[in-house]
Amino acid sequence: MRTDVAQIVRLEDYRPSDFLIDKVELDFRLHPTATKVTATLSVRPNPSGRSDVPLVLDGDEVNLKAIALDDRTLEAGEFEANPESLTISQPPQHSFRLTIETEINPTANTKLMGLYRSSGNYCTQCEAEGFRRITYFLDRPDVLAVYTTRIEAEYEEAPVLLGNGNPVESGFVEGTGRHYAVWHDPFPKPSYLFALVGGRLGRVSKTFTTMSGREVDIAVYVEPGKEDRAGYALDALERSMIWDEQVFGREYDLDVFSIVAVSDFNMGAMENKGLNIFNDKYVLASPETATDSDYANIEAIIAHEYFHNWSGNRVTCRDWFQLCLKEGLTVFRDQEFSSDERSRPVHRIAEVKALRSRQFLEDSSPLAHPVRPIQYREINNFYTATVYEKGAEIVRMLKTIIGDEDFRRGMDLYYDRCDGRAATVEDFLKAFADVTGRDLSHFARWYAQSGTPRVSVHGHHDEAAKMYRLDLRQQTPPTPGQPTKEPLVVPIALGLVTQDGQPMDAHCERVNSRGVFVLDKTEDSITFTGVASRPVPSVFRGFSAPVKVSLDLSNDELLVLLRHDTDAFNRWQAAQTVAMRLLVSLSTGTPVSDEEMASLSSALCAFIETDALRDPAFAALALTLPSEADVAQEIGKEVDPDAIHRARKAMRRHLGNACREQLLDFHRSLAQTESYSPDAASAGRRALRNAALDLLAAADLRTGEQLASTQFETASNMTDRLASLSVLMTIPGMVRENAIAAFEERYRSEPLVIDKWFTLQAAIPEDTTLERVKRLMEHPAFSINNPNRVRSLIGNFAMLNQVQFNRADGAGYAFVASIVLRADELNPQLASRLLTAFSTWRMMEPTRRSHARRALQSIAQKPNLSRDVGDIVNRSLE
Ligand code: ARG
Ligand code: ZN
Repeated sequence: MRTDVAQIVRLEDYRPSDFLIDKVELDFRLHPTATKVTATLSVRPNPSGRSDVPLVLDGDEVNLKAIALDDRTLEAGEFEANPESLTISQPPQHSFRLTIETEINPTANTKLMGLYRSSGNYCTQCEAEGFRRITYFLDRPDVLAVYTTRIEAEYEEAPVLLGNGNPVESGFVEGTGRHYAVWHDPFPKPSYLFALVGGRLGRVSKTFTTMSGREVDIAVYVEPGKEDRAGYALDALERSMIWDEQVFGREYDLDVFSIVAVSDFNMGAMENKGLNIFNDKYVLASPETATDSDYANIEAIIAHEYFHNWSGNRVTCRDWFQLCLKEGLTVFRDQEFSSDERSRPVHRIAEVKALRSRQFLEDSSPLAHPVRPIQYREINNFYTATVYEKGAEIVRMLKTIIGDEDFRRGMDLYYDRCDGRAATVEDFLKAFADVTGRDLSHFARWYAQSGTPRVSVHGHHDEAAKMYRLDLRQQTPPTPGQPTKEPLVVPIALGLVTQDGQPMDAHCERVNSRGVFVLDKTEDSITFTGVASRPVPSVFRGFSAPVKVSLDLSNDELLVLLRHDTDAFNRWQAAQTVAMRLLVSLSTGTPVSDEEMASLSSALCAFIETDALRDPAFAALALTLPSEADVAQEIGKEVDPDAIHRARKAMRRHLGNACREQLLDFHRSLAQTESYSPDAASAGRRALRNAALDLLAAADLRTGEQLASTQFETASNMTDRLASLSVLMTIPGMVRENAIAAFEERYRSEPLVIDKWFTLQAAIPEDTTLERVKRLMEHPAFSINNPNRVRSLIGNFAMLNQVQFNRADGAGYAFVASIVLRADELNPQLASRLLTAFSTWRMMEPTRRSHARRALQSIAQKPNLSRDVGDIVNRSLE
């Protein structure tokens, strides 16, 4: 049986639920293989639904034990139940209580949705449709109920019992060795925000006083013995709480807020009301085990899930098509938080790098979809870079267009109006339309139209008239299901710079006081007056819109921006644009002159000599060339990954040689002297030092090997140790193999560190890597059941190792396809994520393309595919 015939859910078919559930009382008797759940639901007909219709509750592999209506056990014939649904064909026309008893085997739950066990602890994941794996329910986000949860367990097995809301009661069940806890959440919520945790957990906590003076017990729960690695997460939580009060006026609303780290988790983390559950990778950190980027991710994800308490929980989504309403907005909020806590330009560059490498890629692939999709087969496949990251860019553009003050007033109105409700993208935009009096209907097209617009910019200078005209043109390529595209509303933050780098005081009436011009037609021109000499335009400052830009500037003009633009993002962008042009030429056999290479390297060397130490993190980014995957995306068709790899290697060698003295000096002078601190400034110095090491090694293997192995042996923190190991990975030989062995020896008992070790080896761009990866799958630390392990080893092989995943003999594709099929039997979400690595297959040259197609077809033909994998494989082949 093919599974690709799964039903399509369509936005246009939305209608309110025919029934509502106001109150949910849950009773859990936790047991490793036979957990008993009694759910008592207070149901009533929805006045805005249809009357005289059956009640149909959702289920997923539910094992029903008993069912009663208003305390009367229902007989066969009064209801119809199968694992996927429960139907009561003639429910009462008034309020009634439905009591449902089910039994769950959490140990056998390898999908990690619903109630499952991780390292012996019980936990749940209900978004998007996991609650229906616990009991039958109206498992849709517009059914909001008040939950009371009683959890009972063997005390020895689960001394800690956590639920949503506030603790109301706990105690021992006399004479049994069992205990219980009762939790009550007064805020009505959809079922996807339900959570419980039971297990043996260590705890770090403190009291947080909110802006109105309420005391909240904030806590992080981790595996016992790892409490000393939870401090940074707790600190990040506290800073997030303060930030949301100060920047958005949003206060926390319960007496407790808990974060629980688990080691088996499909995604990053989950914002369950008052009880966030995290992938432990985004909680646990110590200088010895976590890198600077781990610390930054922890900070961002702790903030993200906390911010959901308002953008997601207090105001939730009407249906899953509105996912970006909470995710795009919350990503925007966590990005703003990180920018305030760290360096704004540096963080902006990191955001844009991630957007381009993941979202632009998705938008140009067979999996392209609008930020608000209009149909899906499997909602879990829409937790994408487009919904999250492009969704955040739309919120940011809105802010850029209307200004900071109106943005805040609009947010306040949105929260006021929608608090306690399930809202839509229209509700969100209406709040901003109402506070500004603007018509945002054209702007709203960003939510509906997929694909990355390309904006071309041409400048014309009229010396006699002292006028400068910019001709702007936008065009979006077709995407699946959208053959023709409309123009979008594109905010362009811009300024003019003289050829020697001074800001120009030119005037253009159509550029607002914040330096923003809004392009809303296919073509437009803006004219600046008082422009005596030909300027260099600096456009899309701060990356003011998620578009690809074509500029008619020469490399030399761009390099003026690198040195002089007032906008840090565009300084970085200018060097990247030049590097990208050269890399594309080198990769596609277009000759590049020595002068062209030298103009970039000498500009970069000069730049780092004068500016690097003022902002080392920025300098590290400026020294990092576009990745192989970025170059492939830029080339876009008939891609030869080997040629790109060679081109990038050659350019790194050139840069390393050209700036050698300066790089050696950075590597020497920025060595760590004080003890490790994860703050952004210290991290920036490490980043520059390690970027220098990387280029030095590219220029000269022996110097690189020597510097890297010394650094590897003497490193006082994981950032430096891992960076040096990563450089050693590029240098085949015994030094490398010994370092690999030493690292394993040292971190054998640290799964999250072994993940890094898996990743580095999976990324080695050599023909023997595939065999190495297969061998590593036999490593005792590897498990096909654990998403972190699979993503570190197999996912990163597919995503980071362009030359080996895309091997010309097709062995990389065949291998990943085989793992997708194996994983699919255990964990469909994990399998379908892995499968998205194939989204670039159509841009490969013909030999690779046909190998990839064959691998995809082998997946598509497999019987009993999950809906998750069936959906992705079919869309990829369409
Ligand atoms: N809402 C979570 C977040 O903040 C993502 C959870 C998605 N889980 C899933 N199984 N689809 O990003
Ligand atoms: Zn989220």
